[in-house]
Amino acid sequence: MIKITTYTLEIIKFKVFITLLLIMIMGSCFVPVVAGDKIGPEITVSKAGGDECVLPADEIRRLHPGLLKHDRNSTMREGIRTLSDGGHLKGSLKACINCHAIKEDGKYINTSNPNHFCTSCHVYAGVSFDCFQCHRDTPEK
Ligand code: HEC
Ligand code: HEC
Ligand code: HEC
Repeated sequence: MIKITTYTLEIIKFKVFITLLLIMIMGSCFVPVVAGDKIGPEITVSKAGGDECVLPADEIRRLHPGLLKHDRNSTMREGIRTLSDGGHLKGSLKACINCHAIKEDGKYINTSNPNHFCTSCHVYAGVSFDCFQCHRDTPEK
């Protein structure tokens, strides 16, 4: 027969207390991630340009910096401005801007507006660059 003394009872109570405390501490680590919370930037893709990017979404997200720089070099150093069929280069900055342009109050917004497609993600990711000192951040017309 197990003899339960007041002493063992106290130990059991203490263990239960510590276990509950640990569960509460661990639980609190997950509190910020409740359903409905947004993680990541809020990006708006305009439907005006079509349904498809030049690459699948997960690839263009990762690869666009290199793609843009590659095609800039093709244009600037080798004079290549279009594909052999006359279409835009995949990494054409002009084409990104034409497709991803967003209008507010009937006017195209530029990169100083936090809702600009490129800006909306770059602000979140802490990316800044000088491309738009020379290049348009709105479509040509
Ligand atoms: C000092 C001005 C200047 C800056 C800064 C600049 N560019 Fe350009 N870029 C040009 C000029 C000029 C052309 C040639 C346009 C042409 O002849 O078609 C060009 C062409 C390009 C092209 C090929 C044309 C197209 O859009 O299809 C790409 C791509 C490009 N630049 C990307 C970039 C990127 C990315 C950055 C920033 C990392 C950048 N550029 C910064 C001046 C600049
Ligand atoms: C023909 C129109 C078109 C062109 C050109 C285009 N895009 Fe896209 N882009 C889209 C569409 C539509 C989507 C949404 C596709 C999807 O979610 O599968 C998209 C998605 C993206 C995304 C992913 C957004 C997200 O939700 O994370 C990035 C980043 C992006 N484009 C950057 C670029 C860059 C940079 C260029 C130029 C090199 C470019 N796009 C050229 C139409 C275009
Ligand atoms: C979904 C998020 C997202 C969107 C949308 C997006 N970018 Fe980016 N961009 C990034 C991230 C993240 C980096 C940094 C990547 C790195 O450093 O490897 C980056 C880097 C770049 C760079 C290189 C900067 C440098 O100095 O190396 C260029 C150029 C660029 N983006 C252009 C664009 C253009 C143009 C658009 C809009 C047509 C755009 N991006 C839209 C996330 C985004």
